[in-house]
Amino acid sequence: MALPPILKNLPLPVIGSPLFIISNPKLVIEQCKAGVVGSMPALNARPAEQLDEWLAEITETLAAYNRANPDKPAAPFAINQIVHKSNERLEHDMQVCAKYKVPIVITSLGAREDVNQAVHAWGGIVLHDIINNKFAKKAIEKGADGLIAVAAGAGGHAGVKSPFALIHEIREWFDGPLALSGSMATGDAILAAQAMGADLAYIGSAFIATEEARASDAYKQMIVASNSDDIVYSNLFTGVHGNYLRGSVVAAGLDPENLPESDPSKMNFGGGAAKAWKDIWGSGQGIGAVREVVPAAQLVARLKREYAAARERLALN
Ligand SMILES: Cc1cc2nc3c(=O)[nH]c(=O)nc-3n(C[C@H](O)[C@H](O)[C@H](O)COP(=O)(O)O)c2cc1C
Repeated sequence: MALPPILKNLPLPVIGSPLFIISNPKLVIEQCKAGVVGSMPALNARPAEQLDEWLAEITETLAAYNRANPDKPAAPFAINQIVHKSNERLEHDMQVCAKYKVPIVITSLGAREDVNQAVHAWGGIVLHDIINNKFAKKAIEKGADGLIAVAAGAGGHAGVKSPFALIHEIREWFDGPLALSGSMATGDAILAAQAMGADLAYIGSAFIATEEARASDAYKQMIVASNSDDIVYSNLFTGVHGNYLRGSVVAAGLDPENLPESDPSKMNFGGGAAKAWKDIWGSGQGIGAVREVVPAAQLVARLKREYAAARERLALN
């Protein structure tokens, strides 16, 4: 399996996935320093001009860290672009990413050749997230370098496929970079993703319960207190099916067992959705493994310990 140099030899084969509203430069920086790829959606910077400041903060802080720690450099960072027609900021945000030569761009909700070409022109790579094999093929045809397979149980917009089926089908024709997403919150799961054929684990919800995450304390505590029984799958909130914390749906006065279907023609990822449903909290099914709110570095340290223990248990060391 061919991994581009930038994704090779990470201290832990993990991407801390982009989280709408929640990811921010502090979290990205701590993820990278701890040895996993840190990421955030460009849309989290509001107003749009803030993206320039945030990318300056990330690139300057990581460069200074790397100068001070030449033997233990930070992992690279990634910026997520929502490539959907409702994202009116895409062109602006791509220009800012070009200015900072963002090393990894994660594209969601659409695959576009021009976006891929622009990233390649500044020397970056593109990972595109997909929920089935058909979209995976389309993304690679349009020039993405790698794939993120979003399986059942992932936080945010999730698919319905078993990770076993999805990774197998993609690996039949694709030997490039492949990350697996959905319900992973332990080092054991990271190793399992690799055993299945993925190169990297793509972990989101576990990072909500970190000190750096821009989520309310109540949200973080609900992640800690909940498990897979508390996750509701619905398309009501954005027009695309996703997983949400049952407790937040109830608190919004809705019946999680009887949520109406949404009208897909009203899909909106540009910001209105955030306002309408700001108190509906996204989460994947893996949060039973999240027991406390900790600094991101401490979460990564736990994942590293568990990953090493799982390797030892299977006599891989
Ligand atoms: C609250 C929340 C917000 C998310 N926002 C985004 C986003 O803006 N862009 C994106 O590509 N994925 C987004 N995701 C999906 C994650 O990047 C990732 O696929 C998912 O969290 C992985 O599953 P896990 O949460 O079970 O680890 C979001 C997920 C959650 C839980």
